[in-house]
Amino acid sequence: MKGLIVAVTLIVFGASAALAAECMVFPASMGKVSFPHKEHQTMLKDCKICHEKGPGEIKGFGKDMAHKLCIGCHKTKKAGPTKCTECHKK
Ligand code: HEC
Ligand code: HEC
Ligand code: HEC
Repeated sequence: MKGLIVAVTLIVFGASAALAAECMVFPASMGKVSFPHKEHQTMLKDCKICHEKGPGEIKGFGKDMAHKLCIGCHKTKKAGPTKCTECHKK
């Protein structure tokens, strides 16, 4: 029993501390946004582009920040979705 609890704790802790979900889904009235986090990590390498204060939750993340950050970079790089329905899918 004790072994089981340790194993479960390790899985839960390991997953939340070290690895973010490969793909995150943000619900929105326009339709949910699927964000391939892992792909962005590998592609951009620098976490600070999005995580000014270090990896983890981003304080104040929401519509305005997301649109500025995500669409801004996609426009600059001329790659990645920039139209509403390319990100927001019902
Ligand atoms: C690059 C991807 C992307 C594009 C393009 C984009 N959005 Fe978003 N949008 C997001 C993300 C990410 C959020 C943040 C969701 C959250 O706060 O969890 C968001 C949030 C929102 C929200 C607030 C959430 C809600 O349900 O009230 C609205 C409204 C919205 N977007 C509308 C639009 C409209 C209209 C356009 C086109 C002009 C657009 N978005 C284009 C990614 C995008
Ligand atoms: C293109 C932007 C972007 C880049 C680059 C990025 N992240 Fe993230 N990351 C996000 C967003 C958006 C969230 C969700 C924030 C929220 O919900 O507050 C997030 C969440 C996380 C979380 C919390 C996951 C959870 O389930 O709560 C961790 C941990 C994380 N990122 C680690 C990293 C690390 C480490 C790197 C660099 C190797 C990185 N991120 C690069 C955008 C990015
Ligand atoms: C600093 C630059 C940068 C930021 C910030 C960024 N992206 Fe991207 N994103 C890219 C690039 C470059 C691509 C194109 C990758 C490709 O075509 O191979 C891309 C592609 C995508 C794709 C398409 C992936 C696919 O496999 O087709 C989605 C969806 C996406 N981004 C969502 C987001 C969301 C949501 C955010 C904000 C939370 C965000 N991105 C922030 C650079 C960025």
